[in-house]
Amino acid sequence: MALEKIGISGTGFYVPEKVLTNADLEKMVDTSDEWILSRTGIRERRIIAPGETASSMAAIASRQALESAGVAPEELDLIIVGTITPDSPLPSTACLLQARLGNTTAACFDISAACCGFIYALELGQKLLRGGRYRHALIVTSETLSTITDWEDRDTCVLFGDGAGVAVLSKGCDQGEILDCYIGADGKHSSLLEIEAGGSACPITHEVLDQRKQYVRMEGNKVFKLAVASMVSSAQRVLKQTGLTSEDVTWLLPHQANLRIMKAVAKRLKIPVEQVYINVDRYGNMSGATVPIGLAEMDNNGILKKGDLVLMVAFGGGLTWGASLVRW
Ligand code: ACO
Repeated sequence: MALEKIGISGTGFYVPEKVLTNADLEKMVDTSDEWILSRTGIRERRIIAPGETASSMAAIASRQALESAGVAPEELDLIIVGTITPDSPLPSTACLLQARLGNTTAACFDISAACCGFIYALELGQKLLRGGRYRHALIVTSETLSTITDWEDRDTCVLFGDGAGVAVLSKGCDQGEILDCYIGADGKHSSLLEIEAGGSACPITHEVLDQRKQYVRMEGNKVFKLAVASMVSSAQRVLKQTGLTSEDVTWLLPHQANLRIMKAVAKRLKIPVEQVYINVDRYGNMSGATVPIGLAEMDNNGILKKGDLVLMVAFGGGLTWGASLVRW
């Protein structure tokens, strides 16, 4: 018996209004527009205003996605939020988002998979929908990376930005059919990309704050190499699972950490760079939000055509990795 299709019935995104350019960063740390652009491809990024949070950004993006899907908030059975910058440790940002949307019945939870948040949440969402009990799921990633960035550390502060992206997953929907997903991780690389303080291992104290351990720290060069290898193998794995090849791919939608990483991945997969969706120049790395924001932009701007095969692939802190294949 053929399985009922699970598809993406709507997309939405939100980025804050405030733009922080490379020229602005030149005034904050010892860096240059030339260095940032040539090493990362980033020109500018968005930064939240006071009062904006992961759940407030997610609510704006979610309303857009629900409207484009023609699904009312009260019809949602499931809300999954991928974030490493929740509004607070308790309650989950998914519950806060649910309240903002006025839904009172959905199951709500957060996941922590860093830049792979969307791919992980999509895999979970589609599996739960296939389980039979749920019809519509809100798959959300929302990140305020500016709140965990050390604005005195030029190694990291030039890379990150804030934003939220959302997809509505619906049972029986033809558009954006989820053909398959693959997710994986290897925790032995966890120290390459971490926030040391703020959890049970290193609670926040005045001393910890003075040592700036509440901020992201990364060994960029090592992460770079693992990123390329894990994105390529994740993409190859999901293609193999579905019996497709990279020649069948219409669009590669990679996690937007660094233009050089995306180009290296495309080259190894033999996908022409013209078929790679890129917005890292405008937004920087928004962790798990980059992939759904890219998808929503492609959807809104009419870039996606019926039948297009979209290969989404990501890697992130953990280290985590994963890929999803979607037939638009
Ligand atoms: N401006 C000027 N110089 C800088 C800056 C800066 N902003 N940052 C670092 N440099 C210097 C370094 O100090 C170093 O100087 P040195 O040679 O005198 O020691 C030099 O530039 C080269 O540094 P590298 O680390 O070798 O630079 P690289 O080419 O690797 O680029 C980058 C650094 C952009 C961070 C890259 O390694 C990268 O993109 N890594 C992957 C990051 C990533 O994708 N993270 C993933 C996920 S994030 C998440 O999960 C939240």
